[in-house]
Amino acid sequence: MWKDAQPSATKLAEYRPPDYRITDTELSFEIAEGVTQVTSTLQVERAAESGASEPNELRLDGQDLELLSVEIDGRRLSENEFAVDDDSLTLFDVPARCSLRIVTRIHPEQNTALEGLYRSKSMYCTQCEAQGFRKITYYLDRPDVLSRFTTHIITAAEGYPVTLSNGNLTADERLEDGRRRVTWHDPFPKPSYLFALVAGDLDVIEDVFVTCSGRNVVLKIYSEAHNIDQCHYAMSALKRAMRWDEQAYGREYDLDIFMIVAVEDFNMGAMENKGLNIFNTSCVLAAPDTATDSGYQRVEAVVAHEYFHNWSGNRVTCRDWFQLSLKEGFTVLRDAEFSAAMNSPTVKRIEDVSFLRTFQFPEDGGPLAHPIRPDSYIEISNFYTTTVYEKGAEVVRMIRTLLGDGRFRQGTDLYFDRHDGQAVTTEDFVAAMEDANAVDLGQFRRWYSQAGTPNIEIQQQYADGTLQVTFTQSCPATPGQPEKAPFHLPLAIGLLDSQGRELLGDASGGSSPVRVSTDATVENPNGDGTLVVQLKDPVTTLRFDGLQARPVLSPLRGFSAPVRLQGFSDGDDLRFLAEHDSDGFARWDAIRQLQSRSIHLLREDAPGDEVAGLVALYRRLLDAALGAAVPDTDDAEQKAIYATMLALPGESYLHEQMAEIDVDGVHRSRDALLAKLSATLFDQWLALYHANTTSGPYRPDPTDMARRSLKNVALHFLGMADDESEQVAELIEAQFEEADNLTDRLAALREILELRGLNENRRSALIDSFYDAWKDEKLVVDQWFMIQGARRAPGALARVLELERHPAFDRLNPNRVRALYGGFCGQNLLHFHALDGSGYAFLAERVLDLDDTNPQLAARLLTPLTRWKRLDSQRQGLVRKALQRIGSNEGLSPDVYELVFKSLGTQEGDG
Ligand code: PHE
Ligand code: ZN
Repeated sequence: MWKDAQPSATKLAEYRPPDYRITDTELSFEIAEGVTQVTSTLQVERAAESGASEPNELRLDGQDLELLSVEIDGRRLSENEFAVDDDSLTLFDVPARCSLRIVTRIHPEQNTALEGLYRSKSMYCTQCEAQGFRKITYYLDRPDVLSRFTTHIITAAEGYPVTLSNGNLTADERLEDGRRRVTWHDPFPKPSYLFALVAGDLDVIEDVFVTCSGRNVVLKIYSEAHNIDQCHYAMSALKRAMRWDEQAYGREYDLDIFMIVAVEDFNMGAMENKGLNIFNTSCVLAAPDTATDSGYQRVEAVVAHEYFHNWSGNRVTCRDWFQLSLKEGFTVLRDAEFSAAMNSPTVKRIEDVSFLRTFQFPEDGGPLAHPIRPDSYIEISNFYTTTVYEKGAEVVRMIRTLLGDGRFRQGTDLYFDRHDGQAVTTEDFVAAMEDANAVDLGQFRRWYSQAGTPNIEIQQQYADGTLQVTFTQSCPATPGQPEKAPFHLPLAIGLLDSQGRELLGDASGGSSPVRVSTDATVENPNGDGTLVVQLKDPVTTLRFDGLQARPVLSPLRGFSAPVRLQGFSDGDDLRFLAEHDSDGFARWDAIRQLQSRSIHLLREDAPGDEVAGLVALYRRLLDAALGAAVPDTDDAEQKAIYATMLALPGESYLHEQMAEIDVDGVHRSRDALLAKLSATLFDQWLALYHANTTSGPYRPDPTDMARRSLKNVALHFLGMADDESEQVAELIEAQFEEADNLTDRLAALREILELRGLNENRRSALIDSFYDAWKDEKLVVDQWFMIQGARRAPGALARVLELERHPAFDRLNPNRVRALYGGFCGQNLLHFHALDGSGYAFLAERVLDLDDTNPQLAARLLTPLTRWKRLDSQRQGLVRKALQRIGSNEGLSPDVYELVFKSLGTQEGDG
């Protein structure tokens, strides 16, 4: 176990404002092969309100730096005037106001952690969020220190024609020694985490955006030459995002230039550095043969997300890293609203909820559960979680639902206006919402401090024209939080009569005979059939009088709150909602429950009427989906919804619905249901397939995307049909050979990997042919690794070990590593959870190996081992063994250390 110094926790309660400010920061980078020298000149001022015990002492953050010199106001300090340790430089006697010059050296070529300044292929680039700037130079590396940056980049005359930093280009000179010096100045004060620098031999595409006030903004997207043709979609998405943010939030861009750079080695998706966003190639490149439909949508969403940070994150930033959800939760909501507006809003909502349930719910119910505003961390990089991001977005979305769109906008206007140029807290965000609208969100604030997914238990009683519905809320204990206080949350509900007509709100014709009585606040914000009920108490009762017959309740339209429903499971009601609810999300949600239930019944060998009922429902849905053939936009949305409904939930989603996870049972019975639906409805699947082929060149538009998703869902069901295997194999191979886009080609290859009837030599030949055709496209090769990692046939781990020896496997490239290991550990659940523990042991070894080169990547890969709470006892023992195996190593990174020990439940005092 960790022998000497355990990494220590940082606590929200211990926040103190900085003792010094840095008003101006001038950086000079001299980039040469193997070593970069950084000269930093800081205008430093002691904060008037400083209550420090050593008021003249200044402690700067810094890691892995070679310190060459320190000067104050032009005087070089001697060794006894400062002290250096592994993560700081302390100056003992600093005047209240001075100019501080620090010269350090770093080695970007050796930086495999991809934090700070590093080399990716032919270029140099930076990643500073959250605490990477301290690997560049000594600094007050905290988000509440805002400074105006001027950056000089000095490079050899040859090799790095493009040198970029934040803000505007102010000089481009040739030095006497022949080197080139380019200067950038960013007029907007910003924290160090938003600093960026790029140097390389890059190509560029350019465009212009005219803002709402008529200013011209130059837009540039840079990449290595071989990728530049794949940047156009991102450019169009950027322009859409800029326009949308003006219209939806009144936010205009503020600099004269906005740049995006695509890099191949990047730990995350992308980064919102002021005026110079840096992107993982996977989130910016898109072409028909190299990106799937969902890849296109991801590019659009991430480009928008990073752009939106210019206001929600950069102009208004975070006081400290506990406030991360202030920028991330809000910005995820903003990008979701944008994607909804550009595509099908219902399908976007379905995808987001599916993601939340699959990834965030298990986090919230496991050993690493934390509130969206955590109170303690060891390594902040570990808190870029689905809780902070996606649940954080749900929380802001609930504020929007509670206030209504118009008042929410007044709240965001006040927030931006009041806090422009400041580093603030989630409390400031909520306070702006309250102050703009004279509402009290006091109880609502618990969403920021309490972890865990609330349960809402629903009870219904109908008699004599009256329906009584009782909602009882509770929230399970999470680490460090045994008791929870009730939440304030909006439930969007509807009532349907047996014809599927809405019975509530204005949709009922205005003269609704149905009366609602309750103590809770109830509103009808959109004048439709949906009422928004505000739950605040542990128990809330609603009475509906004047009904003709027992109605069907639709309890959580649009997933108005991130909760689990219990006691809402009547099969007839669910089948009815799946076909008739006016809310597409609710239709999907209903069939998800039915599918899960059928799978669990099959697992217990008790299919009964449920499964028959589901098959009959599928038959009707397939008919309806086949009817939706006219190619207009509404029809595209309906098709896309049908595609999400017809596809079975994945195994991870199903695991999340179970008190104790039955790995083998879920796998077996899910396949059984697939096979049954496939065999019974074969002709309809085939018809659906043929009815949804696309014509003309590939277009990533809603109509064609909806057709492709329906077609490929059908293909997947067809692929399970053993009786017709030859006919199906032909169909799949034809799609594989003839596809003019990655979506169809990859869908076919996925089937080829699993088809039971296919000859093994033929299968290998097809897999190889895909690689040979696309080996120069790294993102496509990532997909090739991923789907093979996820391949379900016996021998999965052996195949993964073989793929690791493939010449294209590169353990220093995060995308490649995540593709193969993520495919195996995240998607190939049967094999990853093998009862001999081989999957867990394998992952433990790889985590240890990667921890030496890239701790953030290692920590992220570890996630599947942190989700052991609801496995059977034998597997629990095996996972713990794997975690202990990792934990028994000395010199773990704080990243991996924190996750391992919190998962084992042996890290004290951290919730
Ligand atoms: N701030 C980035 C985003 O969400 C994510 C990120 C975090 C990127 C840390 C790199 C490092 O937009
Ligand atoms: Zn973000």
